[in-house]
Amino acid sequence: MPIPHIHHLKGEITVPGDKSISHRSIMLGALANGTTEVTGFLQGADCLSSISCFQKMGIEVENNKKNNTVRIHGKGLHGLTAPSGTLDVGNSGTTTRLMSGILAAQPFTSMIDGDASIRKRPMGRIMTPLSQMGAVFENLNTEQCAPFTITGGSLHGIDYVSPVASAQVKSAVLLAGLFAEGKTSVTEPYVSRNHTELMLQSFGADIQCDGTTAAVLPARELAAQHIYVPGDISSAAYFIAAGLITPDSEITIRNVGINPTRDGILTVCRAMGANITLSNVKDTIGEPIADITVSTSSLHGCTVEGDIIPKLIDEIPVIAIMAAFACGTTIIKDAQELKVKESNRIDVMVNNLSSMGADIEGTEDGMIIHGGRELHGAVIDSKLDHRIAMSFAIAGGLAKGDTEIIGADCVNISYPDFYPDLASLAR
Ligand code: S3P
Repeated sequence: MPIPHIHHLKGEITVPGDKSISHRSIMLGALANGTTEVTGFLQGADCLSSISCFQKMGIEVENNKKNNTVRIHGKGLHGLTAPSGTLDVGNSGTTTRLMSGILAAQPFTSMIDGDASIRKRPMGRIMTPLSQMGAVFENLNTEQCAPFTITGGSLHGIDYVSPVASAQVKSAVLLAGLFAEGKTSVTEPYVSRNHTELMLQSFGADIQCDGTTAAVLPARELAAQHIYVPGDISSAAYFIAAGLITPDSEITIRNVGINPTRDGILTVCRAMGANITLSNVKDTIGEPIADITVSTSSLHGCTVEGDIIPKLIDEIPVIAIMAAFACGTTIIKDAQELKVKESNRIDVMVNNLSSMGADIEGTEDGMIIHGGRELHGAVIDSKLDHRIAMSFAIAGGLAKGDTEIIGADCVNISYPDFYPDLASLAR
């Protein structure tokens, strides 16, 4: 797809609902007693995969795509039925890993499979703790990747020390812990996003968090809830970056989730010298939201490392774009997880930004960008990774000459209206 040039960006926008919270609303809604009503649900392909998997296990889900509301008719903790076929997770790592935590406790065998990207993503990280709790996995390949089967069992709680700071791993273990005998805890190297913990608490589960450890007690029942899904800060990140690096621009993004375990992008923008302000800060069942206003700024490079990495892991591609437009050097470290996302995001960013003329070098755990070179248009291979496509729609829009993105439609995964929304701000 040819990428339109961006001259100035002005106006207001509301980004679609948070992907992580949307997935969790389906899963906890399915396990609750009664009807859970969700407003602001993300109609991205990933979240639709979560809906269709739970429908295959006998859960009635009414999805009103016109107003993004979803009603999930929960059948209680023990109400799922054996799936009518393979559970197709599409491109969604969150569906795969969180649902596996639930399947680990079901009295049936489920087969999970997905697209070519999912078939390369590491699942050993959930198989290890869930097997320790009593589930049985069978791999249908030599790697610990999809497709695989899970046979649920009667689980017992564990104290799991995870080698990675991953909310997907933590959530899989905590969800299994709802069904286990005794307490289940997960300790991570750094705190990852805590949406599962917050939502479990609102559904009535007994969950405690202390530093980098989250623990859950077996649940007797979960009670259906009304869930308001805030705008996804990971989607807002493209407009934040674009508003900062485009000349003569000012954008307000309304109702964005600013959960402190997700707001690393705001910290990095401030460290780079961004004009960024938050207003109308409100709390929605533990998930804070705000309007974010950004305007054209002269950015400078910074170092991004350590415990902030899980708080902005999905925003690193667009941070790399900002860094290419900033003065000086940006160093991104401790982000080896980028290699196992929807694509190898270190390689893909380095290849694509280099092809536009940026000075970028990949490292074992991140990248180093010497900003300030003028970018020229190029043919960008998105590798069908939604976050790569959206990042290069910004970079390509601002580059000199024409940019074409191969596989540009993959934005459907998390932001189906991304291109028209970006165009609506163009002046
Ligand atoms: C997610 C957690 C993160 C993130 C992904 C969504 C979640 O993955 O990259 O897009 O909803 O829990 P990891 O837990 O693997 O870091």
